[in-house]
Amino acid sequence: MRASYKAMTPFMTAAEADQMLRIAEARGVFRTYAEEALNEGIGESLPQRFDAAFNYIQHGIDGHGNTDEVSTAAQRTNYFRETYAYGNEIQAPGVEPFFTHPDLLNVAREVTGRPLVVPAIVYANILTPGQELAIHTDVPEFRGADRKRMPQWLLVTMLHSGLFNDYRIPIATCVSWFGANPGGAFAYFPEGPQGPRESMPAVHNTAILIDTDTVFHGVERVTPKAIFPEIDKGATLTFKGGDQWSLANLNGLEVARYSWSDLRYSISWKAYCFKDEAEKAMWSDKSDDLTLDRILDVLEAALRSRGVLTMQRPDPTSFAQMLVNEFIRFPMAKAG
Ligand SMILES: [Fe+2]
Repeated sequence: MRASYKAMTPFMTAAEADQMLRIAEARGVFRTYAEEALNEGIGESLPQRFDAAFNYIQHGIDGHGNTDEVSTAAQRTNYFRETYAYGNEIQAPGVEPFFTHPDLLNVAREVTGRPLVVPAIVYANILTPGQELAIHTDVPEFRGADRKRMPQWLLVTMLHSGLFNDYRIPIATCVSWFGANPGGAFAYFPEGPQGPRESMPAVHNTAILIDTDTVFHGVERVTPKAIFPEIDKGATLTFKGGDQWSLANLNGLEVARYSWSDLRYSISWKAYCFKDEAEKAMWSDKSDDLTLDRILDVLEAALRSRGVLTMQRPDPTSFAQMLVNEFIRFPMAKAG
């Protein structure tokens, strides 16, 4: 079944779109999207998103294989991220009208069919030339299970298993682009992993609102496609005035200069979408929350009923890999 979504072209007024560029300039420094803290007890030796990373290393962005060294693959996907708003906290002055933009709220209601829309987060991603984003689904949330409490790959596995749908908090995501680089199209699979891959160019002041928790998506390579090997953890991208940005390595040494048109700048807006006040209340009062033990028991039972697990539950790392392998089915290579 085709996912419901809505493309917005154009997205906002020219002045509102311009403001999104100014907010990035005012932020000044963008840092790489660092690995979040690991979780004890289940797969703690694995990266948070090993589900998407392992698939990317094996199959690349287009499913045809990845010829990069693993270290180059890391540079390509080590993009820059800053949070502009989170919950009630505005972290980037000027983002307030965007956070609660009436058009966003209306489109979220329309696409999800859920009338109660609560904005949750706004963050900005910047990809430099040569970077891309592995095909993945975003980290979902369930009552009692979010990224503060559970490993991200486990939340993604829970969603794809379909075993926790009653606990899921649907999240609408709007991805919008500003000052766009000519590459870096948004690649997505609106008919599911077996369907064709489609793409939407990352044109200035356009956007798509879609359920990125269920729809596989990624970012095609930003042009030109050569990659700077210095983009490691600790690299920074700093606004230098005019329309100039400076890429510096871990030691603060400038390794490249970019103008806005070289960069792929996107803003993601996420909102919880509830069907009614009762559902919202169940989420906020935590009266029906999942626990880690319950989640793992449900998943283990499913593995046993499928005949995948016949012995006792293996060590946490092996168990994590078994769960991801069994429940997450990545799209195969197909031209769209
Ligand atoms: Fe995503």
